Amino acid sequence: MEILIRDTPEAGAKVGASVVRKIIQTKDKPVLGLATGGTPLRMYKVLIRMNQSGELSFRNCTTFNLDEYGGLPPENKRSYHYYMMSNFFDHTDIDKKNVHLPDGYAEDLRETCRKYENLINDAGGIDLQVLGIGANGHIGFNEPTGSFASRTWVKILSKQTIQDNSIYFDKLEEVPRHVVTMGIATIMESRHCLLMANGAKKADAIRKMIEGPVSASCPASILQMHPRVTIVLDEEASYLLTFKDHYKWVEKNKLDWQLY
Ligand code: F6R
Repeated sequence: MEILIRDTPEAGAKVGASVVRKIIQTKDKPVLGLATGGTPLRMYKVLIRMNQSGELSFRNCTTFNLDEYGGLPPENKRSYHYYMMSNFFDHTDIDKKNVHLPDGYAEDLRETCRKYENLINDAGGIDLQVLGIGANGHIGFNEPTGSFASRTWVKILSKQTIQDNSIYFDKLEEVPRHVVTMGIATIMESRHCLLMANGAKKADAIRKMIEGPVSASCPASILQMHPRVTIVLDEEASYLLTFKDHYKWVEKNKLDWQLY
């Protein structure tokens, strides 16, 4: 795991954007896996600036989002469709026909899930998967104790995640209970993962993910088995790491081409 620690979330967002830029600049038809939530918002702002200044184009990109709430139509302001359009896609030159999110509003959710897996395969797989992490260690909406072999499917959110995500809704009761999410196995097939986390609330999950045993009790810990993972943390999210000094030492001694 490549662990990059920065003083502030803003500095982390710039590193995250550089990782995305590098992938886009080295592939003819980059396929990006994207995340929602509070964490990637700063990075999307940096990417929008790069796009609007002419430094980076998303014209050749195809995207697949990790997840979507069940039962919310795309135009609902709390849906991840709405989030992605308003916080990112609408401000870039991306061709919207290459943008994909799971359809949590479909009548046949099982069919939606199968189709989503096929679409990812047809695109040639995901080059870079952007991830956040839940305070309970979830990635996508794969909650603790879910199978590491899972594919895109309908999942039920844990009470903790419903509580955590209720800040984006008017009332706790409005948070959907079910979601459609890429599975852990789907995420693990991407060629490179970029996980970002900020704040002390994430510190325990970060410690378990990086230094704990690989266990379905912390779904993100499976990333220890992925050959190419970049983790970008702010100081607060990294404060429980036993080997923090070592991670900083490693970064300081990297070769030029290994830096972002
Ligand atoms: C969102 C997603 C989730 C979030 C996680 C952290 O698409 O897949 O796993 O990344 O819940 O959310 P924030 O960034 O709001 O703390």
